[in-house]
Amino acid sequence: MLAQSHPAAAASAGLAFTVVGHGVLRPVTPDDFSELSARLPSVLSGDWSVAALEASPYRQRVLVKDDAPSILLGFAEFYLVADECHLLEIAVWTELQGKGLGKQLLTAVLDEARAEGCTLCLLEVRRSNAPACALYERAGFVVVGTRREYYPPLEAGGAREDALLYSLNLT
Ligand SMILES: CC(C)(COP(=O)(O)OP(=O)(O)OC[C@H]1O[C@@H](n2cnc3c(N)ncnc32)[C@H](O)[C@@H]1OP(=O)(O)O)[C@@H](O)C(=O)NCCC(=O)NCCS
Repeated sequence: MLAQSHPAAAASAGLAFTVVGHGVLRPVTPDDFSELSARLPSVLSGDWSVAALEASPYRQRVLVKDDAPSILLGFAEFYLVADECHLLEIAVWTELQGKGLGKQLLTAVLDEARAEGCTLCLLEVRRSNAPACALYERAGFVVVGTRREYYPPLEAGGAREDALLYSLNLT
């Protein structure tokens, strides 16, 4: 069962906020880049330099403490196209995992997508990423395909890894 979320205090200086349990989802601002650049490489592969964060064409969101919006708890990156949401990244800081924050983050992203008319959410994940697969499956996502050897090896000399393609109907 997903945590209940409810929209609150929308559109303050162009920033839409959504209250979700103990966390609040808000857009990333330039003030967040330095901390995100320091934190993200420990939870997500890829280039998370300040320059890369600045250049991203995607929607970037952070889950923050509801009473302290400068305290970052997690991050998500996604884009909306037509009536589809494509979730690219979702992460909770290592020391905060397993406390329901990933579920809050995912719920808030899906709420935002739904509010903008999306009827479907799609994502890819490494087959071996059990915590992420559990998060998505608990939220109702189903595997609709496999991309063989989609991901590079996690370790030098390792094998490439399949991606599971997950889908969730948002209607
Ligand atoms: C995936 C991730 C975001 C989950 O965040 P989290 O805050 O730990 O997840 P939650 O505590 O909200 O748990 C959500 C659900 O997944 C399940 N889950 C989470 N981690 C799990 C694990 N290691 N094993 C089994 N189930 C797990 C929980 O039991 C929960 O289900 P429930 O509601 O039925 O109890 C987090 O592990 C993470 O940041 N991983 C690194 C980044 C990553 O791999 N992102 C995904 C690819 S982009």
